[in-house]
Formats: sequence, structure tokens, C-alpha cells
Amino acid sequence: MSTAKKRVGILISGRGSNMMSLIAAARAAGYPAEIVCVLSNRPEAEGLLKAAGEGLPTRAIDHKGFASREGFEAELDKALADFGVELVACAGFMRKMTAGFVERWRDRMLNIHPSLLPAFKGLDTHARALAAGVKLTGCTVHLVRSEVDSGPIIAQAAVPVLDGDTAESLAARVLEAEHRLYPHALSLFASGAALVSGDMVNIRQASINQAKPLFWPPLE
Ligand code: GRF
Repeated sequence: MSTAKKRVGILISGRGSNMMSLIAAARAAGYPAEIVCVLSNRPEAEGLLKAAGEGLPTRAIDHKGFASREGFEAELDKALADFGVELVACAGFMRKMTAGFVERWRDRMLNIHPSLLPAFKGLDTHARALAAGVKLTGCTVHLVRSEVDSGPIIAQAAVPVLDGDTAESLAARVLEAEHRLYPHALSLFASGAALVSGDMVNIRQASINQAKPLFWPPLE
């Protein structure tokens, strides 16, 4: 396991609540990663102000200012290099990436998705989970591959669906889990406790005693 903190760049497009959970977690002395910059493809992203308020360097790279995805991504790569980024954490980054960019960051770029992948890839996950009648949904942190919302899974959290849930109430419950899952998954990955092997991530198990099934509705 490496002892140096991994240098993490966060990519956002919006409010940045997952970004804030990573920033807060990374303040702990023993956390194996440090957040070195926050970049956004949308200059008006709320998260940029929040990150600046936390004293972090930010950069807006407006994708609309580029004729091609490759041009935008070259600028993004340049910013990531400027800040010496080793790992990229996408947190609500709503921009499709080219296969070239994904390959350059292969096994070095994480994403969080608000469903238990491979179920409900794409947008409107909560409305689709409700329509499907699932009793458990959740969130997933995975390594990015060129197919959207696919890639080796690092960690997942299961979240109950309650009677009367709306997409909004379910999204809020899942978001709370996201804020705990992402720092945990980044820690596992940055510390080397989670290792990629092809299309799988192997985790050095913490405690087999915690490997209990979650029943929903509860057994009693
Ligand atoms: C989160 O639900 C995340 O899972 C999804 O986009 C949302 C971003 O929210 N990829 P925030 O910007 O982190 O608040």
C-alpha cells in the first residue's frame, strides 16, 4: 500500500454535493487522497463557488467554447496535468467523454451513479426504479469505461424504496448514501485496498462479519 496521498481532481457540472463530501473526507489526516482541484465544464456550476469557498483551486472550462469534444478534453487534460492530478473523481460531471479521454485515464477515473449498476444506467434513475417497483435501489462508485455508466464496480450502497416515494424523495435518500459511499470508495481505491483486475475490482475485505444481507421490507 502506498503511503503518499493520491492527488485527486474532481470534475463537476452542477451543485457539487458529492464533491463537498469528498472535500470534507479528504481533510482527515489519515485519508489516502487529497483534493487538488475542481474543474467544471459549466462556468455557472454552483459547485465551483462552493469549492472556492473551501479554499480549493477551481477552473471552468466551458465545453461550448470548443468546436470538438477532443478540443475540450485536451484543455481538461492540460488542467489536470497543471495540478498534478493522479486520480480523477467525476461527481455529477454531465459531459460524455470520448474513448480517447477515457483510455488516457483508464483505471484512474472514478464516477458515482445513483443506482445499483448495472440496473438503471443513464438519466432519470429514480423515476425508473419507482416504475420498475424495485424495493432496493442505491448508488454505485465505479471506474469509468467508454460505455456510459459501465466499468469495474468499486463499491455500492443499497437504499430502501418506501411506499409513497416520489422520484424526489428517493433521490434525496440515495444522495445521503452517495455522500457516504463516494469518500469510502475513493479511500479504498486510493489506498490500494481496492485493486483493478481487468473488468473487476477486488477488495481486500475489511470484515466478513459485516457481510449480512439487507432485507427490505425488514424481516420483522
Ligand atoms: C448525483 O446524484 C450523482 O450520483 C450523479 O449526479 C448527481 C450529482 O449531484 N452522477 P451533486 O452535484 O454531487 O450534488
